[in-house]
Amino acid sequence: MKSDSGRVSHVSRQKENNMKMVAGNWKMFKTVEEARAYFVELATATPPQGDKVRVIVFPNYIALGALATTGSVPAWVLLGAQDVAAEVEGAFTGEVSPAMIRSTGATHVLIGHSERRHIIGESADLLHRKLINSLQASLIPVLCVGETLEERNAGKIEEVVFGQLDTALSDVQLCDGAQLVVAYEPVWAIGTGVNATNEQIEEAHHLIRQHLKQLLGTAIGGSVAILYGGSVKPANFASIAGLPSVDGGLIGGASLKPSAFAELIAIAEQV
Ligand code: PGA
Repeated sequence: MKSDSGRVSHVSRQKENNMKMVAGNWKMFKTVEEARAYFVELATATPPQGDKVRVIVFPNYIALGALATTGSVPAWVLLGAQDVAAEVEGAFTGEVSPAMIRSTGATHVLIGHSERRHIIGESADLLHRKLINSLQASLIPVLCVGETLEERNAGKIEEVVFGQLDTALSDVQLCDGAQLVVAYEPVWAIGTGVNATNEQIEEAHHLIRQHLKQLLGTAIGGSVAILYGGSVKPANFASIAGLPSVDGGLIGGASLKPSAFAELIAIAEQV
């Protein structure tokens, strides 16, 4: 596995070259053995050429720790955690700190995934503290935002998504847009097989882009990568990743098989 610093220096060039990100969220899948086997197979895929595609995989904590000491993760894959504690260290049973995550070589962390907001019940304030805690440890938060179907039908997309951004990013000042990634994941599209249409994605991404500029300033808000997530698969990724407002995909189900994930990476290179 490549050194941590090597991975981070790749990351900081993220948006400058019109890079597309292909991020795999494994959720609560894969034992240590399965995780290792996954990367042994993925390593046989053609690596992305040049700087056009950035690949990130978010395994569970246990697999992430084990992968840090195995040689099976290709150097062209960055690793991230699916969650992080809101505290630096201390008596917080079951929690995992940003420094612990960094010690595995991971560079990114998912914050505010809809399953954590809606199933685990994480509050907007907790997510804000997790985001600040991650930034302070130089982990790159991938902040997930998105509306439920009821909220969309009630015409509340802006209210919900802007509210999620406002709280998570309150008092956040970045030096560089590469310190943050935002993923637009409409809740109704996650794991359902129903992806948002290209028009729905473009509309939401434009709104998010405008809002990020307001919150973070034009230059930084304009350079934060915005990913789309929700039932992305090889059959629809070319059309989604090809949209001008889309900087890549956050992919759950279709990232679990190395062959499908390799297909998604190859598609991102071609768009
Ligand atoms: P999905 O999940 O690709 O299985 O819809 C996306 C996500 O949860 O990030």
